[in-house]
Amino acid sequence: MDVKGKNFTRFLERQQAHNDQHDARAKAKQHSKGKLTAWERIDILFDEDTFEEVDAYVTPDKTDTGFGKVQQAYGDGVIIGHGLIRGRLTFAYSQDFTVMGGSLGSVHAAKIMKIQDMALKMGAPMIGLIDSGGARIQEGVASLAGYAGIFHRNVQSSGVIPQISVILGPAAGGAVYSPAITDFVFMTDQTSYMFVTGPNVVKEVLNEDVSLNDLGGAGVHSKKSGVAHLVYPDEENTLMGVRQLLAYLPSNNMENSPEMELSSDETSDVEEKLRDIVPDDPNKPYDVKEVIRLNVDKRSFYEIAENYAQNIVIGFGRLDGKVIGIVANQPKVLAGTLDINSSNKGARFIRFCDAFNIPLLILEDVPGFLPGIDQEHNGIIRHGAKMLYAFADSTVPRITVILRKSYGGAYCVMNSKNLGGDFNFAWPTAEIAVMGPEGAVAILYRKELAASDDQAAMKKELAAKYRIEIANPYVADERGFIDEVIDPAETRLKLIRAFEALETKQIDNPARKHGNIPL
Ligand code: HXC
Repeated sequence: MDVKGKNFTRFLERQQAHNDQHDARAKAKQHSKGKLTAWERIDILFDEDTFEEVDAYVTPDKTDTGFGKVQQAYGDGVIIGHGLIRGRLTFAYSQDFTVMGGSLGSVHAAKIMKIQDMALKMGAPMIGLIDSGGARIQEGVASLAGYAGIFHRNVQSSGVIPQISVILGPAAGGAVYSPAITDFVFMTDQTSYMFVTGPNVVKEVLNEDVSLNDLGGAGVHSKKSGVAHLVYPDEENTLMGVRQLLAYLPSNNMENSPEMELSSDETSDVEEKLRDIVPDDPNKPYDVKEVIRLNVDKRSFYEIAENYAQNIVIGFGRLDGKVIGIVANQPKVLAGTLDINSSNKGARFIRFCDAFNIPLLILEDVPGFLPGIDQEHNGIIRHGAKMLYAFADSTVPRITVILRKSYGGAYCVMNSKNLGGDFNFAWPTAEIAVMGPEGAVAILYRKELAASDDQAAMKKELAAKYRIEIANPYVADERGFIDEVIDPAETRLKLIRAFEALETKQIDNPARKHGNIPL
């Protein structure tokens, strides 16, 4: 720096002291745990040389709280600032575990709140890189108040700007609830974990032994709890994943997602493979992800929560360069039935897409809700209602394609015409009815079947008749519940045209403070 006679001494001293904090020892400590430093993470996340730090020199105001010292580190263990990701303005904070375990004291919290406020004011995405032991114990209630302030801002920003949390170490205690409110949670395998109370407390209270990973590792949260939506094997890939996700999202709820130019090897508009994808045997599964990939622009499908509630598939894709959200039943898992977890997964995704102007494509093949004591006792009525509510309440363009089964309540739920579906298409393989042939025949012909000499043959014959008369797409088509029965090979073309026709869709729900979704 050119100091040219001016008194820059203090400026340079402070700068040096700030840089010294990120010394080789702190770096080595992080690296020895298989983790990157707070700055290394920022450097990967943002476009090269675009990040500007804010509040680098704020310092905690108390050295000793009466219950241990608070480290007088410049920045108080968190970097905040703004920069560009794929050329678009983005705000972020990155916690530094080498400063008091990334714990959140009042100054640390005030910095996060400051950057949250800026992101909201500017209408730009907010990303939290989390590596924290939770509320700073020495600072007591001031830490708790700090968390509450952050949560409040998370909620105010919800549905206005995309909020993403990236867990890159511990997220303990209060550190879990901000991610829980944000739209997407990323975790890094083996080096990140999230829990409200850690293994020590579990041991003390319940006398149970559990490791950090078994209690709240990436595997637990991506497969069992559904808290984490995306998991990558290491930090670099995790941060690159965040960059990838942002390419599908608008900067705020007043904008649309960025469009992408199609490359020359783009998916052809007529795809004959789709004609053979649904097996002749109605009980045979197939992979709905194949249907998705054959319809969206090449390599554009970005799946969310891949390992959780796999009976429903959700994710983003592009059709002719334009972003859509996809909700698809997966016949390969639990026959594509709707259960508690898949309803929660689907409903939250629908709400996100609706809040951020992302049109919805629904690919339907669902025999119904998953029956059973477990499901009923744990509230499938309440949870299943969330999907229904989310679809009915959303104002973005929404198109359903019934690929095969569409039975009972599941027909209604999966964005049926009367739930507000804008275009409802069906393939010739669709089966639309109150229930499947076997169940229907058993109820309607109970007495006749009981009296028959050859029940199996009679059942088979009646089931075949039921398919011809009732469980097909043509009855719905002739009644207008389906807009068109389409050739599967032309699905992409139909969808591109239908979404184009819906681009100016404008509907206003009745004025109200907010609806009461069955949480
Ligand atoms: C102050 C903390 C801290 C905390 C860690 N440190 N957590 N300091 N407050 N919450 C400090 C440690 O004292 C240590 O300081 C340094 O950070 C590194 O921590 P280690 O324990 O050495 O690291 P590691 O072995 O990797 O273990 C990480 C950990 C563990 C699993 C996160 O530190 C831990 O269990 N911390 C407490 C987690 C917790 O229970 N938090 C909940 C707080 S209550 P030195 O000086 O030795 O380097 C809460 C409620 C909010 O958050 C509720 C809102 C809804």
